[in-house]
Amino acid sequence: MDMKFKGMKPSRRSFLTGAAAAGAGSVAATVAKGQTAPDPAITELQDWQVYLGDGVDAAPYGMPSRHERHVVRRTVDWLTADNISSINFTPLHELDGIITPNGVCFERHHSGAAEIDPAEHRLMINGLVDRELVFTMEDLMRFPRENHVYFLECAANTGMEWAGAQLNGCQFTHGMIHNVMYTGIPLKLLLAEAGIKTNAKWILPEGADAAAMTRSIPMEKALDDCLVAFKMNGEALRTEQGYPVRLVVPGWEGNMWVKWLRRIEVGDKPWHHREETSKYTDLLENGEARRFTWEMDAKSVITNPSPQAPLTHGPGYTVLTGVAWSGRGTIPRVDVTLDGGKSWHQARMSGPSLSKSMHRFYFEFEWDGKPLLLQSRAHDSTGYVQPTKDQLREWRGENSIYHNNGIQTWYVNENGEAENVEIS
Ligand code: MTE
Ligand code: CO
Repeated sequence: MDMKFKGMKPSRRSFLTGAAAAGAGSVAATVAKGQTAPDPAITELQDWQVYLGDGVDAAPYGMPSRHERHVVRRTVDWLTADNISSINFTPLHELDGIITPNGVCFERHHSGAAEIDPAEHRLMINGLVDRELVFTMEDLMRFPRENHVYFLECAANTGMEWAGAQLNGCQFTHGMIHNVMYTGIPLKLLLAEAGIKTNAKWILPEGADAAAMTRSIPMEKALDDCLVAFKMNGEALRTEQGYPVRLVVPGWEGNMWVKWLRRIEVGDKPWHHREETSKYTDLLENGEARRFTWEMDAKSVITNPSPQAPLTHGPGYTVLTGVAWSGRGTIPRVDVTLDGGKSWHQARMSGPSLSKSMHRFYFEFEWDGKPLLLQSRAHDSTGYVQPTKDQLREWRGENSIYHNNGIQTWYVNENGEAENVEIS
């Protein structure tokens, strides 16, 4: 259990960290400075101690503190020609735990976010079924529902980093991901209601947005764990996440999670639409393309410290944290290195460990103030280990955009400033 102090140099503070090791409650002794001069934050009355605060109902739908205004999604202007078919990114470096708050879940739209009146929304099931059906939202509310926490990662997440380090911040390199609790109807119940024919092997979910997003999904997955979801983190889906209903395809690439779901066609073979031919395929060096690469491989990233979240406290006790996930199961283990992979330490996992969900890890260490080369390496419950970027390029060449799950490196200098670099 003491591995977090491994590599710690004996210092004038070592008796304090020794005490810290003995009980978590005493960690503060190593980081809180003794008070020498009077501190106006203590000795002077603050406005909020003198004046009454807002009454209840000042904000019928609550917003974060105004001191948290910087915790927002951000886009990268040069990535797309306009903001209609575009992307913004989850501020991973500002979050903790495993749940992404609804207001900062990254957005990816191909024709903007459709603004749908739920009373006018219909979900149709047609094709190789016994009964073609149309559901209103009211109809859907009468099916049994389930709750599950799943990550959604765009297959293009980290895609800009294939050829080398590019974007300076985990928000931009890894922020095409969110992790929320969905409430939804198992898709298999709706398909059973329609009655699938024996030759039905695929489904084609379709969005009601102007892009009419469609993807072919094998029936096996449709009958396994897919959900037709209408709530995220307990409240209605946000408009930008597909209100009033979206498809949830656990562990599989985000593109398949059709938002503003209006139709599910049942067929006997895949449709080979745009999003599974010209897009979401990986061109290899030999000219062949990998297709139908649906499962998201295990991946991790250190969110703090990182370029947008430098170390500002100087040498001493330091909390490193990050997230890891796998489309194939849970993440029982994450390794962390401070020296570019010369030595690895097992990180401490904290919080629920749910299949196809984000996991949180921490690694506390005594920073000696010297430069760091930080990396994290996820192991998933199938035994798969997150590869280096060099390994990925060896397997798949340099033409790829999608499915970059290589190990990320942050260089932290003596001032605690972090930068995106590549060393392996
Ligand atoms: N569904 C529709 N109808 N239209 C879209 O543009 N974009 C897809 C998918 N579903 C898209 C869609 C892509 S590429 C991704 S990564 C996810 O939605 C993004 O989901 P989010 O906006 O909730 O993050
Ligand atoms: Co996507």
